[in-house]
Amino acid sequence: MEINKLKEEINLWLQEYFDNKGSYNKIIYDAMKYSIEVGGKRIRPILMICTYNIYKDNYKEIIPLASALEMIHTYSLIHDDLPAMDDDDLRRGKPTNHKVFGEAIAILAGDGLLNEAMNVLFDYCTVNSQKHIIEACRTISKASGVEGMIGGQVVDVISEGKKISEEQLSYMHSKKTGELIKSAIISGAILGEAKNKDIKLLCEFGKKLGLAFQIKDDILDIVGDSKILGKKINSDNDNDKITFVSKFGLEECKEMCKQLTNECLKILDNIGKDTSNLKDITHFLLKREF
Ligand code: IPE
Ligand code: IPE
Ligand code: MG
Ligand code: MG
Ligand code: MG
Repeated sequence: MEINKLKEEINLWLQEYFDNKGSYNKIIYDAMKYSIEVGGKRIRPILMICTYNIYKDNYKEIIPLASALEMIHTYSLIHDDLPAMDDDDLRRGKPTNHKVFGEAIAILAGDGLLNEAMNVLFDYCTVNSQKHIIEACRTISKASGVEGMIGGQVVDVISEGKKISEEQLSYMHSKKTGELIKSAIISGAILGEAKNKDIKLLCEFGKKLGLAFQIKDDILDIVGDSKILGKKINSDNDNDKITFVSKFGLEECKEMCKQLTNECLKILDNIGKDTSNLKDITHFLLKREF
């Protein structure tokens, strides 16, 4: 499977989903569409589909579910950028949602994306009600919740300007970013009806990949190029955030990313199937500049 082509297919599905909708509420469609369409790596839906594709060929079947996950991620970005949270002006190379639509509509657009994602998941389960499909949707929903992404964001905001333990920092990273990434991989495996042994291995892979992803995000916040990154750098420092870099230093964090990447690749070697797409993504995420 060609990953760039896959990305285009996901983009097309998302674009069509928001087309020609709304009446007096049209502004919220414009706002949701704005943040969805300004781009992004689409790494979560790509991970879901590439994991699924290890087990099944007909990946087009799950594009709606993969796109729902991207909607949830995009909602988390809109809210993350709000003045009450990280107060950022630039996202995916464009002004943040609240800068364009105002705070009230940006909050509602985030809520709207989460809810539309749930509609997509439920609609899908209504038509395809096999147990494993419901379980995959539940995995996504749980990962987005207070024991998942939201839980991590809570620890992130209440820890600003404070000293926190390594354990709390690991909690924060594994939840705010790790959970959605892990859920992409696990839900892809569940949808592909992978064996339990593989699901366990992919769960370990997802945890490590998610942690590496946020450590890299923390690194890029310092050494990245805002033009390539599409977001302002030094946001963490300006907000007095505790990050892996503020706790362990830049060099050690780069080393951790390499180490985690190697561990990810080793885990994939233990899956006796073609995991080359996941390996390519793992390499790409280590080297990424955006
Ligand atoms: C940024 O996520 C926020 C984090 C969870 C670290 P991405 O780096 O995946 O952002 P996009 O989707 O490519 O814009
Ligand atoms: C955000 O972490 C994680 C989310 C759940 C959105 P960051 O606050 O570091 O993400 P960026 O750097 O703004 O993308
Ligand atoms: Mg944040
Ligand atoms: Mg942020
Ligand atoms: Mg960041």
